[in-house]
Parts: sequence; structure tokens; C-alpha cells
Amino acid sequence: MNTILVTGGAGFIGSHVVRLFVEKYPNYHIYNLDALTYAGNLENLKDIEHNTNYTFIKGDITDEDFINALFEEHKFDSVIHLAAESHVDRSIQDPLAFVKTNVIGTMNLLNAAKKYWNGNFTNKRFYHVSTDEVYGTLGQTGLFTETTAYNPNSPYSASKASSDHFVRAYGETYKLPYVITNCSNNYGQNQFPEKLIPLFINNIINNKPLPVYGDGNYTRDWLYVKDHARAIDLVYHKGINGETYNIGGFNEWKNIDLVRLLCQQMDVELGRSKGTSEQLITYVKDRPGHDLRYAIDASKIKNELGWKPSVTFEQGLEKTIKWYLSNEDWLNNVTSGQYQSYYKKQYN
Ligand code: NAD
Ligand code: TYD
Repeated sequence: MNTILVTGGAGFIGSHVVRLFVEKYPNYHIYNLDALTYAGNLENLKDIEHNTNYTFIKGDITDEDFINALFEEHKFDSVIHLAAESHVDRSIQDPLAFVKTNVIGTMNLLNAAKKYWNGNFTNKRFYHVSTDEVYGTLGQTGLFTETTAYNPNSPYSASKASSDHFVRAYGETYKLPYVITNCSNNYGQNQFPEKLIPLFINNIINNKPLPVYGDGNYTRDWLYVKDHARAIDLVYHKGINGETYNIGGFNEWKNIDLVRLLCQQMDVELGRSKGTSEQLITYVKDRPGHDLRYAIDASKIKNELGWKPSVTFEQGLEKTIKWYLSNEDWLNNVTSGQYQSYYKKQYN
């Protein structure tokens, strides 16, 4: 029996991780702790909500007493920590929210694990899910490796960097067994339409402008979310305590090239004539502190643990588009209400 606390399991990546673990490991019990912020959505897990090895708990990782009581009650063997405020543009609007959840929330989990494991670390593990954005930006060449110095540029990446440092420090100081993974940009089904790909899919469906920041010559390394979940499964089971692993897609795209590909695929799926969606591309004011380029050297996880992405970008993007087009209710639900005021504030 393995009792795992997954935080942020109602979010984008977390829901894929929860589903993979619940379905693949019937003898584990997965507790999904999520505050259900704007980004959390139990619809993401409808298909597994009645599984006997799955329990959803609504709660906030910034609430220290609640987190302590939860550890006391369930005596978790391990934590896979994904709960976070995750969007760079929101971190520019409200940095403190990112400190609260990403730094204080992580601290509460670390303290609870330390307290309840109480020096007995056999078969215990604190798995912290992080981002490549902690490394800051690359120029036109080079790749982020596990030894690249941290140099975060946005409030989001600064808060994630801080949490990574605390996890590492608890490993050094208190011998807490941990692993950290730093992953590149994810895409796929269930991603909240504030991030580039689902936001643009939604706007193309609704014939709205596609707001490309700056000149569009920013580069990201894209990974299909289910391949990230597979990597998390592998590192959870085979990773070495105290190690960090970079996860990436071997898949760099300039934003403007990605947007053009997306437009072409959307035209096909929507039965629109070639070039229709591209006409929606609109260059808008750049993001402050915009990182030029992220690209991951994922050779450590590839060589040491045997992981590699399972789909090409074109395949993953096609699956993603098809999912959004056949889940219009999901998209309409998350883009009503609050989303409209966020959109106005960010883009008008
Ligand atoms: P997301 O925003 O889709 O989901 C975050 C989830 O955390 C939501 O379900 C939300 O309700 C929950 N949450 C937020 N604050 C909480 C709190 N105080 N207490 C409990 N739950 C809370 O994020 P995501 O894209 O799925 O990212 C998950 C993790 O992966 C994050 O730690 C992020 O930094 C990391 N990551 C994301 C990407 C990416 O491209 N999306 C890439 C690398 C790493
Ligand atoms: P995003 O999906 O927000 O991920 P991140 O900032 O964490 O990399 O953005 C991906 C890239 O797309 C980034 O260079 C910013 C750019 N972008 C736009 O040009 N327009 C948009 O409306 C958004 C949301 C992002």
C-alpha cells in the first residue's frame, strides 16, 4: 500500500498525473488535495472520481493547521506537489499571491512531511514539480541542464525558484528525501485557456484576435502533458533522492511559427479555407521581462531513466485541438464569469 498526497490534482498537469496513478496503480491510494482556484476543475477527473483508490479533498496548502491535520489523519507515504499559481501574466498582476501559494504553501507541506515522517524516511518521498523558468532565459543558443544557475526573471519563476531552494534545503538540513523535476512548457487537454495554446484555440473558434506578444520571436520547448505525467511516474518510482531532473520535449518553437502551425491545423479541423485563422494574428504590447528562449537538455532523464516523449508536436497538437473542439462545454464553463474580467484586464 502506498498512500500518496497529490497537490493541485484538479489542475491541468495534476489531473493527468492523478489519472495515470489511479488507473495504473490500483493498490496505491491517491489523495488529491486542491483548493479549486480558478484553475482547478473537478470536471477534469469525472471519469475516475468513483474509483475506490481515489479521494478528493478540498483544501488550501497555505493553511498550516489544515495541512498538519491532514498528514496526522492520512499518514502519507509520499507527496507529489503540483499545486501552484502557474501563470506568468497573473504573477505580474499580483506577485504576492504567488509567494503565498508557491512559497508558503510549499513550506507548509515540507514542515508537515518533516514532522510526521519524524526522521523515519524509509520509503518516503517528497516530489516537487517545478519549471524550467527558474533558470531564467537563454540567448539564441545553449540548453538548460540540471546544473544551470538559477536566474528567475518573473514573479512566477522567482516563487518557483524559492520553493525549489527550500525543498533542496530541507534535504540537506533535515535529510528529507526529495526529488525535483524542472519541466518545459506543457500543452494538451484540460489546460486553462490563459496559456498560449488553449487561449489561441478558444479565440480561433470564436474568431477573436490572437494576441502575439512583442515580435513573436520568443522560443519555448513544448511537451505533451501526458508525456510529462509519464516522466513524473518514472521519476517518482526510479529517481534518486536528492537529484533534480530536467524534462523537455526536444521540441523548440518560436511563438509565431507555433501560432501559424496551430492556425493551419485549426483551419483543417474547422473546415475553414486555408489561411483563414492566420488573419486573426495581432501583434500586441510585449510582456514585461519576457524571457527570450527556454530549451531543455533532457539527456539525464533520457539516459538514466529511459524516458522520452511519445508523440511528435504535430500529433500532440492535433489531439489537443480535437479535444477542445469536442469539449465545448468544458471550454464555455471555464471562459465564462471571472475569465472575462481577467481577459479584459490582460488584453484591453
Ligand atoms: P494549473 O494552474 O493548471 O493548476 C494548479 C492547481 O493548483 C489548480 O488545480 C489549483 O486549484 C491548485 N491550487 C492553486 N493554489 C492552491 C492552493 N493554495 N492550495 C491548493 N491547491 C491550489 O497549473 P499546471 O499548469 O497544472 O501546473 C502544475 C505544476 O506544474 C505547477 O507547480 C507548475 O509550476 C508546474 N509546471 C507547469 C508547467 C506548464 O507548462 N503548465 C511546466 C512546468 C512546470
Ligand atoms: P505561456 O503559455 O503563458 O507560457 P510561459 O510564459 O510560461 O512560457 O506563454 C508561452 C509564450 O507565448 C510566451 O513567450 C508568451 C507568449 N504569449 C503570447 O504571445 N500571447 C499570449 O496571449 C500568451 C498567453 C502568451
